[in-house]
Amino acid sequence: MSFHTFVTFTVIILSADALLVKQTAQEHVCFPCDCLNVTADCSNRNITKVPVLRSNITQIILSQNTLTTVTRNIFEKVKTLDITTIKLGYCKVMHISNDSFLDFQRLKHLNMSGNWKLPFMELSQALVNINVTHLNLDDAGIGNKLDVVFIPFKHVNMLSLRGNMIENLHATLFSNGFPSLNILDLTNNSLQTFPALNQIEKLNLAKNKIESTGLRFCVNGSVPKNRLVELDLSWNFLSDISVFNSEGHCLSKLQTLILNNNYHIIQIPDNVFSRLPRINKILFRYVSGRIDIDPLAFNASTLLELRLTTSEQLILRPKHVNMFKQCPNLHTLHFTNVVFKNISDNLTDMFSHLVKMKDFKIKRGIIWDISFLSTMENLTILELFDNYIKGWNPEIFMTKPLKKIILSENQIAVFDQNSFPQHIWDNLEYFSATSNPFECTCKLLWFKDWLNDNRNKLSKNYPELYICLYPHEWKEKTVVQYEPDQYECQPAVSALLVIGIGLGCLAGVLLLIAFIVYKGRYHIKHRMLLVRSLQPYDRLPDGEEFVYDAFVAHHVDNRVWVINHLLPFLEKQRKLRLCLDERDFLPGNFIADNIVNNMKVSRKVILVFSEDFADSEWCLFEATTAYNRILAEGASSVVIIMLEDIRHRPVDNTIRNLLHAVAYIEWGSERSDRPVFFRKLLDALQ
Ligand SMILES: *[C@@H]1O[C@H](CO)[C@@H](O)[C@H](O)[C@H]1NC(C)=O
Ligand SMILES: *[C@@H]1O[C@H](CO)[C@@H](O)[C@H](O)[C@H]1NC(C)=O
Ligand SMILES: *[C@@H]1O[C@H](CO)[C@@H](O)[C@H](O)[C@H]1NC(C)=O
Ligand SMILES: *[C@@H]1O[C@H](CO)[C@@H](O)[C@H](O)[C@H]1NC(C)=O
Ligand SMILES: *[C@@H]1O[C@H](CO)[C@@H](O)[C@H](O)[C@H]1NC(C)=O
Ligand SMILES: *[C@@H]1O[C@H](CO)[C@@H](O)[C@H](O)[C@H]1NC(C)=O
Ligand SMILES: *[C@@H]1O[C@H](CO)[C@@H](O)[C@H](O)[C@H]1NC(C)=O
Ligand SMILES: *[C@@H]1O[C@H](CO)[C@@H](O)[C@H](O)[C@H]1NC(C)=O
Ligand SMILES: *[C@@H]1O[C@H](CO)[C@@H](O)[C@H](O)[C@H]1NC(C)=O
Ligand SMILES: *[C@@H]1O[C@H](CO)[C@@H](O)[C@H](O)[C@H]1NC(C)=O
Ligand SMILES: *[C@@H]1O[C@H](CO)[C@@H](O)[C@H](O)[C@H]1NC(C)=O
Ligand SMILES: *[C@@H]1O[C@H](CO)[C@@H](O)[C@H](O)[C@H]1NC(C)=O
Repeated sequence: MSFHTFVTFTVIILSADALLVKQTAQEHVCFPCDCLNVTADCSNRNITKVPVLRSNITQIILSQNTLTTVTRNIFEKVKTLDITTIKLGYCKVMHISNDSFLDFQRLKHLNMSGNWKLPFMELSQALVNINVTHLNLDDAGIGNKLDVVFIPFKHVNMLSLRGNMIENLHATLFSNGFPSLNILDLTNNSLQTFPALNQIEKLNLAKNKIESTGLRFCVNGSVPKNRLVELDLSWNFLSDISVFNSEGHCLSKLQTLILNNNYHIIQIPDNVFSRLPRINKILFRYVSGRIDIDPLAFNASTLLELRLTTSEQLILRPKHVNMFKQCPNLHTLHFTNVVFKNISDNLTDMFSHLVKMKDFKIKRGIIWDISFLSTMENLTILELFDNYIKGWNPEIFMTKPLKKIILSENQIAVFDQNSFPQHIWDNLEYFSATSNPFECTCKLLWFKDWLNDNRNKLSKNYPELYICLYPHEWKEKTVVQYEPDQYECQPAVSALLVIGIGLGCLAGVLLLIAFIVYKGRYHIKHRMLLVRSLQPYDRLPDGEEFVYDAFVAHHVDNRVWVINHLLPFLEKQRKLRLCLDERDFLPGNFIADNIVNNMKVSRKVILVFSEDFADSEWCLFEATTAYNRILAEGASSVVIIMLEDIRHRPVDNTIRNLLHAVAYIEWGSERSDRPVFFRKLLDALQ
């Protein structure tokens, strides 16, 4: 071994050794805490003193240790560090000595939540010379301790007092005690009145006990120097919100108003927000579906963002068509469970002037025509989850900078390159079209490839929830699994050129046959089902309980009728269990499966015939399955309700056969016809 090699070797060993020593030292620093980046997590370690920490630690989490008395000594080993955050949550703190934090002149955030015997006075003494700006005293049993005089927390601008059973805030004492405060969180307390705290800009009063009568914004009729910009009144007991009109001018800086989860609000009156001169965001999430929106409720020209989610369906009426006329600056509109069916012809009138719209969401709105979107040239986010959309004119999307599109749970059979302009397909950042009834034919090939190439832009349930509904051979397969035969999807002309005239003729003949088969596919399917049904019907074994008394097959557009008339009578009055497609189908299951399986476990099948029913391929599938059951179990297993008379129009053979096989019950438009109808229906269901 040459000298040179020896030296190199030794140096390697030595430096490796040095590294090891350093690493061990590093491991010992912090123990038993975990140092991650700038944070030392010492929570729940049963320690009474903070150990030596890395020199670049700035945050210490000491929560869930028992530190009955907090002293300077606890921090002895870290006194030279530049600590900005200390969390002492749930440490059973009962005493705080006045020098506890003296070593941390840069302390900004102090979290003392969960200490039920917190000595408020001592805390104020310990912070006299420390410029703490964020103070968290959640769940600390404060109750009315804030009413005693304490040394002001001069620098605190953000205070959290969640879950403290506070019933009253003495406004003057409070503003003297926290002279710099502008963000206050009073969530989950017992306040019954709105506390008039003039210096606060952001006030969270969610989960208190404030009733309408407890809301007063003007002090003794005069306009206070109110700085409120954001007010959260979620989860209170508000019923009447007209105070925003009568005293709205006293909230002259208010921009954001949150009224979520106030189930007792029954009316949004005309002009209720129009005296809030700066209002731009109103949130009404999880309010009652019985809420009555007056036509001028949203007369607030400054309004930019509106969100409304009702717990049950809220059916808009003609008086609502102009409800957005006075807020033309809206750029974000989110509606959930708000139903537009009764004004479906007026959507253009309702929305098309909202040209600044960027983020538009209507979930479960029963809308099918979306041509009103055409004027929203800056639309970036479009979410139309669970509606009845079948298609649209691609021109309505022409110049839009769309980044996010959600069209899940609609009636869209095919997406292709022309569904959206190319720039939208290219620039999308998020896309979802799950649970649509996809038609897996050559028309869908482009979309299949697009999905595959853009997987990173899709929701997690790709590919499971992109499922073929027809044709038969791909039914229940995912769109990804759809693989047409090699020549099936080549344009006929190019196939002719490539393969030659002879083969071309053959292809032509095949195409013709395919066309005929395609045209007559329902007829053929029907025949096949009839043949299959000659075998014993696959019914439940004897003694097996039916899950439902009746399976209701209806067209989506007759849903309102089913919900308003059929359900109240059969379910509410007669306590029968009904299976409705949209309500009882297992999410994620293939629709055709759901139909077949649910019919099997239903004692009877009710078919609601209407013009739409006769034209819908889905409904025809349901009718065929029902007819199949008649052949197996007799005519009494199926009940037909004639919602609209379709006897004198051309209908599918299956429907004709059904009409011959089963006596139908007619729904009359006269109220006086109803008792007879319901009695017949009940008889038929026996
Ligand atoms: C803190 O110091 C340790 C070594 O002492 C170093 O590994 C780590 O990157 C530093 N972290 C930051 C956020 O500076
Ligand atoms: C480390 O902390 C710094 C300062 O708080 C932060 O900017 C950075 O993102 C953190 N790094 C990691 C990996 O968490
Ligand atoms: C906490 O540590 C003390 C000694 O410092 C010990 O007596 C006690 O049993 C420990 N408690 C738990 C829960 O580990
Ligand atoms: C304060 O500490 C409690 C308990 O450890 C924790 O739940 C809460 O999130 C903390 N709050 C902040 C603002 O860090
Ligand atoms: C802390 O309190 C003691 C008496 O309890 C007092 O002598 C001392 O001056 C106080 N220190 C500070 C910094 O307030
Ligand atoms: C704390 O605030 C006071 C002014 O109120 C200031 O003079 C002092 O320098 C601040 N201390 C630190 C450490 O920032
Ligand atoms: C509300 O505060 C109480 C204590 O006042 C607490 O027990 C409860 O868990 C809190 N509820 C929520 C939802 O935070
Ligand atoms: C409001 O008026 C009442 C009686 O008229 C008076 O006692 C009270 O001090 C007034 N409050 C304010 C904030 O002026
Ligand atoms: C809307 O509110 C403004 C401001 O209060 C009012 O002047 C206007 O008359 C209202 N518009 C309608 C149509 O009532
Ligand atoms: C919706 O329109 C139907 C008739 O098309 C009517 O029977 C129903 O009462 C209307 N609903 C509401 C809430 O106006
Ligand atoms: C809604 O549209 C229908 C059909 O275009 C029209 O007759 C009706 O007047 C419109 N209603 C309103 C309130 O504009
Ligand atoms: C759309 O956005 C552009 C750029 O932000 C803006 O200039 C234009 O006025 C907006 N159009 C509408 C109708 O608001």
